[in-house]
Amino acid sequence: MKTNCFFYRKKKYSINPNGVVTSKSHSNIALIKYWGKHNNKTQIPLNSSISYSLGEVYTVTRLIYQKKKERNLPIKVFFSGKEKTSFLPKILEFFHRISSYCSYLQDFNFIIETYNTFPHSSGIASSASSMSSLALCIMEIEKKLVSSSKEDFFLKKSSFLARLGSGSACRSIYPGLVVWGCHKSIKGSNNLYAIPYPYEVHSIFTKIEDTILIIDDEPKKILSSKGHQLMNDHPFARERFKCATQNMSRLISILKIGDFQEFGELIEHEALTLHAMIMTSRPYFLCMKPNTLNVIYTVWDFRKQNKKNIYFTLDAGANVHLLYPIQEKTFILKWIYSDLFVYSKKIIESFCL
Ligand code: PMV
Repeated sequence: MKTNCFFYRKKKYSINPNGVVTSKSHSNIALIKYWGKHNNKTQIPLNSSISYSLGEVYTVTRLIYQKKKERNLPIKVFFSGKEKTSFLPKILEFFHRISSYCSYLQDFNFIIETYNTFPHSSGIASSASSMSSLALCIMEIEKKLVSSSKEDFFLKKSSFLARLGSGSACRSIYPGLVVWGCHKSIKGSNNLYAIPYPYEVHSIFTKIEDTILIIDDEPKKILSSKGHQLMNDHPFARERFKCATQNMSRLISILKIGDFQEFGELIEHEALTLHAMIMTSRPYFLCMKPNTLNVIYTVWDFRKQNKKNIYFTLDAGANVHLLYPIQEKTFILKWIYSDLFVYSKKIIESFCL
């Protein structure tokens, strides 16, 4: 069943006393990118996407809930130990969007304590891991209130709620390859929540390294919400959505066969297409920095000379994710530190979960 009403939770519970729940959620990197959604607040994507969840880059959230006393502020947010009122509008909007699915929320005040293992708003999907860890916390509360929740429902609804916070966050609920958005060749895929990739995957794709080069650790110049919105009257949008759907079909067979070169070329094409959309929207933006291009050219040269399996992908920011099989890690990582460190502010050694 894939309708919103599946997730409604009416107010039939006895309110528990105060409590604390904690969760951890990993960031993810999309291989086929989600860029463009229906023009309303329901976070329905205009094409399907697939990502790897990432080790080492995650958000930990502690949610303290207290039975509401009148005139209390409903939510306080602390990020790395400091109160962050600037995070409140997004979180309040999130609570508002999920309120009809989690009616118990209105009975509590909340204190959210959260930290990331990576810089927020820097092109590493911090909203994905933060919104998904918050959604998981909320579902932990729901589990305490409504003890009948099954694990499968718990994860589906966590993904469903996370989506309403930030689209790509719905993919962070699961490890491994995760699909979000309806695609005719992927059984169970749908627009409301993400699912673990359901088909055979060649062993080469089960142990992939992702070394992230932080080129720019300043907050992003273009918020993804704005970028998605600009796809609504983008002159190339229709072709882009078609292309993403075709790329997904190609990826299904690549993942089965284990062709790393095809895989790499496809993810680089996706990354550059995302940036092409960003560069040609109105108003237009440029998220890459000179060092993003320096890294890309250096990777292409290295690949040509050494016949190694290393390919890049990008989020809507300047940072570069370098994907390669674990079998080639020793040689490639040494080269990254010797030849690419010069272009980076920081290197994060992550891997695909
Ligand atoms: O989840 P949002 O609204 O921040 O959008 C994320 C979009 C990309 O990261 C650029 C691509 C993706 O699919 O993760």
